[in-house]
Amino acid sequence: MSAGALDPNDPRQYDELADTWWEPRGPLAMLAWIARARAALVPPTEQPGAVLVDLACGGGLLAPHLQGKGYRHLGLDLTFSALERAAAHEVVVAQADVGSLPLPDGCADVVCAGEILEHVEDLPGTVAEACRVLRPGGVVVLDTIAATLRARLIVIELAERLPGVAPKGIHDPRLLVDRDLLVRSFAEHGVTLRLSGLRPSVPHLARWLLGGPGPVPMRVVRSTGILFQAVGQKRR
Ligand SMILES: C[S@@+](CC[C@H](N)C(=O)[O-])C[C@H]1O[C@@H](n2cnc3c(N)ncnc32)[C@H](O)[C@@H]1O
Repeated sequence: MSAGALDPNDPRQYDELADTWWEPRGPLAMLAWIARARAALVPPTEQPGAVLVDLACGGGLLAPHLQGKGYRHLGLDLTFSALERAAAHEVVVAQADVGSLPLPDGCADVVCAGEILEHVEDLPGTVAEACRVLRPGGVVVLDTIAATLRARLIVIELAERLPGVAPKGIHDPRLLVDRDLLVRSFAEHGVTLRLSGLRPSVPHLARWLLGGPGPVPMRVVRSTGILFQAVGQKRR
Protein backbone atom coordinates (compact mmCIF):
# COMPACT_ATOMS: atom_id res chain seq x y z
CA MET A 1 0.00 0.00 0.00
CA SER A 2 1.42 3.37 -0.87
CA ALA A 3 0.81 6.75 0.68
CA GLY A 4 -0.31 8.06 -2.71
CA ALA A 5 -0.11 11.84 -2.95
CA LEU A 6 0.16 12.49 0.79
CA ASP A 7 3.36 13.77 2.39
CA PRO A 8 5.44 11.46 4.58
CA ASN A 9 3.91 11.22 8.08
CA ASP A 10 0.60 12.80 7.03
CA PRO A 11 -1.89 11.15 9.44
CA ARG A 12 -4.50 11.00 6.66
CA GLN A 13 -2.55 7.96 5.43
CA TYR A 14 -4.25 6.07 8.27
CA ASP A 15 -7.64 6.78 6.70
CA GLU A 16 -6.43 5.02 3.54
CA LEU A 17 -5.26 2.14 5.75
CA ALA A 18 -8.38 2.06 7.95
CA ASP A 19 -9.62 -1.36 6.85
CA THR A 20 -6.26 -2.98 7.42
CA TRP A 21 -5.62 -2.38 11.16
CA TRP A 22 -6.59 -5.90 12.15
CA GLU A 23 -5.45 -7.76 9.01
CA PRO A 24 -2.81 -10.29 10.08
CA ARG A 25 -1.08 -9.97 6.69
CA GLY A 26 -1.96 -6.32 6.02
CA PRO A 27 0.40 -3.34 5.77
CA LEU A 28 0.09 -2.61 9.51
CA ALA A 29 0.67 -6.22 10.61
CA MET A 30 3.90 -5.47 12.43
CA LEU A 31 2.09 -3.04 14.75
CA ALA A 32 0.18 -5.95 16.21
CA TRP A 33 3.41 -7.82 16.94
CA ILE A 34 4.85 -4.74 18.67
CA ALA A 35 1.62 -4.17 20.64
CA ARG A 36 1.96 -7.65 22.14
CA ALA A 37 5.51 -6.83 23.29
CA ARG A 38 4.33 -3.47 24.69
CA ALA A 39 1.55 -5.07 26.72
CA ALA A 40 4.08 -7.43 28.29
CA LEU A 41 5.58 -4.34 30.02
CA VAL A 42 2.23 -3.22 31.48
CA PRO A 43 1.96 -4.41 35.08
CA PRO A 44 -1.37 -5.98 36.07
CA THR A 45 -3.41 -3.99 38.59
CA GLU A 46 -5.94 -4.89 41.25
CA GLN A 47 -6.86 -1.27 41.88
CA PRO A 48 -10.57 -0.81 41.05
CA GLY A 49 -11.14 1.64 38.18
CA ALA A 50 -7.46 1.83 37.18
CA VAL A 51 -7.05 3.67 33.87
CA LEU A 52 -4.62 3.00 31.04
CA VAL A 53 -4.33 5.88 28.58
CA ASP A 54 -3.26 4.65 25.13
CA LEU A 55 -1.79 7.62 23.26
CA ALA A 56 -2.39 7.39 19.50
CA CYS A 57 -4.21 4.09 20.00
CA GLY A 58 -4.78 3.61 16.26
CA GLY A 59 -7.11 0.69 15.62
CA GLY A 60 -6.83 -0.52 19.23
CA LEU A 61 -4.30 -3.30 18.64
CA LEU A 62 -3.23 -3.20 22.30
CA ALA A 63 -6.71 -4.19 23.50
CA PRO A 64 -6.55 -8.01 23.32
CA HIS A 65 -3.21 -8.06 25.13
CA LEU A 66 -4.55 -6.00 28.06
CA GLN A 67 -7.35 -8.40 28.82
CA GLY A 68 -7.13 -9.63 32.39
CA LYS A 69 -4.70 -6.86 33.42
CA GLY A 70 -7.46 -4.92 35.19
CA TYR A 71 -7.48 -1.55 33.39
CA ARG A 72 -10.11 0.59 31.73
CA HIS A 73 -8.54 1.18 28.33
CA LEU A 74 -8.88 4.77 27.11
CA GLY A 75 -7.61 5.34 23.56
CA LEU A 76 -6.87 8.74 22.04
CA ASP A 77 -5.99 9.36 18.41
CA LEU A 78 -6.25 12.05 15.74
CA THR A 79 -7.72 9.67 13.16
CA PHE A 80 -11.43 9.09 13.44
CA SER A 81 -11.45 5.98 11.21
CA ALA A 82 -8.85 4.38 13.51
CA LEU A 83 -10.89 5.25 16.61
CA GLU A 84 -13.92 3.53 15.07
CA ARG A 85 -11.88 0.31 14.79
CA ALA A 86 -10.57 0.69 18.33
CA ALA A 87 -14.07 1.24 19.72
CA ALA A 88 -15.14 -2.06 18.14
CA HIS A 89 -12.52 -3.72 20.36
CA GLU A 90 -13.87 -2.30 23.63
CA VAL A 91 -11.53 0.67 23.82
CA VAL A 92 -13.18 3.83 25.18
CA VAL A 93 -12.11 6.36 22.56
CA ALA A 94 -11.75 10.11 22.11
CA GLN A 95 -10.33 12.14 19.25
CA ALA A 96 -7.30 14.14 20.41
CA ASP A 97 -3.82 15.30 19.51
CA VAL A 98 -1.18 13.77 21.76
CA GLY A 99 0.33 17.24 22.10
CA SER A 100 -2.75 18.54 23.91
CA LEU A 101 -4.67 15.89 25.79
CA PRO A 102 -8.24 16.58 26.94
CA LEU A 103 -7.56 14.84 30.26
CA PRO A 104 -7.00 16.07 33.82
CA ASP A 105 -3.61 15.95 35.54
CA GLY A 106 -2.72 12.62 37.12
CA CYS A 107 -5.74 10.68 35.82
CA ALA A 108 -3.79 7.75 34.34
CA ASP A 109 -2.29 4.80 36.19
CA VAL A 110 -0.49 3.77 33.01
CA VAL A 111 0.30 5.76 29.86
CA CYS A 112 1.23 3.81 26.73
CA ALA A 113 2.79 5.56 23.74
CA GLY A 114 3.17 2.89 21.08
CA GLU A 115 4.72 3.88 17.74
CA ILE A 116 3.72 7.54 18.04
CA LEU A 117 6.76 9.49 19.23
CA GLU A 118 8.44 9.06 15.82
CA HIS A 119 5.46 10.89 14.32
CA VAL A 120 5.39 14.06 16.45
CA GLU A 121 7.05 17.41 15.69
CA ASP A 122 7.36 18.39 19.37
CA LEU A 123 8.87 15.47 21.29
CA PRO A 124 9.46 17.31 24.61
CA GLY A 125 5.93 18.78 24.48
CA THR A 126 4.36 15.37 23.85
CA VAL A 127 6.40 13.83 26.68
CA ALA A 128 5.28 16.67 28.98
CA GLU A 129 1.62 15.91 28.18
CA ALA A 130 2.10 12.17 28.75
CA CYS A 131 3.72 12.88 32.13
CA ARG A 132 1.08 15.45 33.10
CA VAL A 133 -1.75 12.93 32.81
CA LEU A 134 0.26 10.17 34.55
CA ARG A 135 -0.31 9.97 38.30
CA PRO A 136 2.65 9.93 40.71
CA GLY A 137 3.76 6.29 40.92
CA GLY A 138 2.16 5.56 37.54
CA VAL A 139 3.95 3.68 34.77
CA VAL A 140 4.78 4.78 31.23
CA VAL A 141 5.41 2.22 28.50
CA LEU A 142 6.48 3.21 25.02
CA ASP A 143 8.08 1.98 21.84
CA THR A 144 9.44 3.99 18.98
CA ILE A 145 12.23 4.29 16.41
CA ALA A 146 15.68 5.72 17.10
CA ALA A 147 17.18 8.63 15.16
CA THR A 148 20.10 6.68 13.70
CA LEU A 149 21.36 6.01 10.21
CA ARG A 150 20.74 2.29 10.78
CA ALA A 151 17.10 2.92 11.69
CA ARG A 152 16.67 5.14 8.67
CA LEU A 153 18.07 2.47 6.36
CA ILE A 154 16.21 -0.45 7.90
CA VAL A 155 12.87 1.06 8.91
CA ILE A 156 12.42 3.49 6.04
CA GLU A 157 14.54 2.36 3.11
CA LEU A 158 14.08 -1.40 3.65
CA ALA A 159 10.96 -2.06 5.77
CA GLU A 160 8.75 0.33 3.83
CA ARG A 161 9.49 -1.78 0.74
CA LEU A 162 8.53 -5.08 2.41
CA PRO A 163 4.84 -5.93 2.28
CA GLY A 164 3.32 -5.89 5.79
CA VAL A 165 6.29 -4.49 7.65
CA ALA A 166 5.58 -0.75 7.23
CA PRO A 167 3.46 1.18 4.70
CA LYS A 168 5.45 3.29 2.22
CA GLY A 169 5.65 6.95 3.24
CA ILE A 170 4.37 6.47 6.78
CA HIS A 171 7.56 7.79 8.41
CA ASP A 172 9.32 11.12 8.12
CA PRO A 173 13.03 10.52 8.82
CA ARG A 174 13.28 13.98 10.43
CA LEU A 175 11.08 12.83 13.30
CA LEU A 176 12.92 9.66 14.35
CA VAL A 177 13.55 9.84 18.07
CA ASP A 178 16.73 11.16 19.67
CA ARG A 179 17.12 8.77 22.62
CA ASP A 180 19.07 11.23 24.78
CA LEU A 181 16.42 13.90 24.30
CA LEU A 182 13.69 11.35 25.08
CA VAL A 183 15.36 10.22 28.32
CA ARG A 184 16.09 13.84 29.37
CA SER A 185 12.54 14.95 28.59
CA PHE A 186 11.01 12.20 30.74
CA ALA A 187 13.53 12.84 33.54
CA GLU A 188 12.42 16.50 33.64
CA HIS A 189 8.98 15.21 34.64
CA GLY A 190 10.15 12.71 37.24
CA VAL A 191 10.23 9.58 35.04
CA THR A 192 13.45 7.58 34.70
CA LEU A 193 13.19 5.53 31.52
CA ARG A 194 14.79 2.13 31.00
CA LEU A 195 15.34 1.37 27.30
CA SER A 196 15.74 -1.96 25.53
CA GLY A 197 15.99 -2.81 21.86
CA LEU A 198 13.29 -4.76 20.05
CA ARG A 199 13.32 -6.64 16.76
CA PRO A 200 11.23 -9.29 15.04
CA SER A 201 12.50 -12.85 15.29
CA VAL A 202 14.43 -13.19 12.03
CA PRO A 203 13.46 -16.82 11.17
CA HIS A 204 9.78 -16.14 11.95
CA LEU A 205 9.87 -12.92 9.92
CA ALA A 206 11.49 -14.68 6.97
CA ARG A 207 8.84 -17.44 7.07
CA TRP A 208 6.07 -14.84 7.40
CA LEU A 209 7.36 -12.85 4.41
CA LEU A 210 7.28 -16.08 2.40
CA GLY A 211 3.62 -16.61 3.33
CA GLY A 212 4.06 -18.52 6.58
CA PRO A 213 1.98 -18.00 9.71
CA GLY A 214 2.03 -15.04 12.09
CA PRO A 215 2.19 -13.38 14.45
CA VAL A 216 5.95 -12.86 14.37
CA PRO A 217 7.36 -12.80 17.91
CA MET A 218 9.40 -9.75 18.91
CA ARG A 219 12.75 -10.29 20.61
CA VAL A 220 14.29 -7.99 23.20
CA VAL A 221 17.85 -7.10 22.16
CA ARG A 222 20.64 -5.02 23.65
CA SER A 223 20.93 -2.43 20.88
CA THR A 224 18.36 0.38 21.03
CA GLY A 225 19.62 1.81 17.73
CA ILE A 226 16.62 0.84 15.59
CA LEU A 227 13.30 -0.08 17.23
CA PHE A 228 13.25 0.19 21.03
CA GLN A 229 10.83 0.05 23.91
CA ALA A 230 11.04 1.81 27.25
CA VAL A 231 9.39 1.67 30.64
CA GLY A 232 9.51 4.08 33.58
CA GLN A 233 7.67 4.98 36.77
CA LYS A 234 6.79 8.55 37.76
CA ARG A 235 8.31 9.74 41.02
CA ARG A 236 5.78 9.73 43.91
C1 LIG B 1 2.00 3.90 13.80
S1 LIG B 1 0.36 4.20 14.30
C2 LIG B 1 0.40 3.48 15.93
C3 LIG B 1 -0.96 3.10 16.43
C4 LIG B 1 -0.98 2.30 17.72
N1 LIG B 1 -0.34 2.99 18.80
C5 LIG B 1 -0.34 0.95 17.50
O1 LIG B 1 0.83 0.80 17.89
O2 LIG B 1 -0.99 0.08 16.91
C6 LIG B 1 0.35 5.92 14.62
C7 LIG B 1 -0.99 6.47 15.07
O3 LIG B 1 -0.77 7.80 15.53
C8 LIG B 1 -1.85 8.60 15.15
N2 LIG B 1 -1.35 9.98 15.23
C9 LIG B 1 -0.41 10.56 14.45
N3 LIG B 1 -0.13 11.79 14.90
C10 LIG B 1 -0.93 11.99 15.99
C11 LIG B 1 -1.10 13.06 16.91
N4 LIG B 1 -0.40 14.20 16.81
N5 LIG B 1 -2.00 12.92 17.92
C12 LIG B 1 -2.73 11.78 18.04
N6 LIG B 1 -2.60 10.73 17.19
C13 LIG B 1 -1.71 10.83 16.20
C14 LIG B 1 -2.26 8.09 13.80
O4 LIG B 1 -3.59 8.43 13.51
C15 LIG B 1 -2.06 6.59 13.99
O5 LIG B 1 -3.24 5.98 14.45
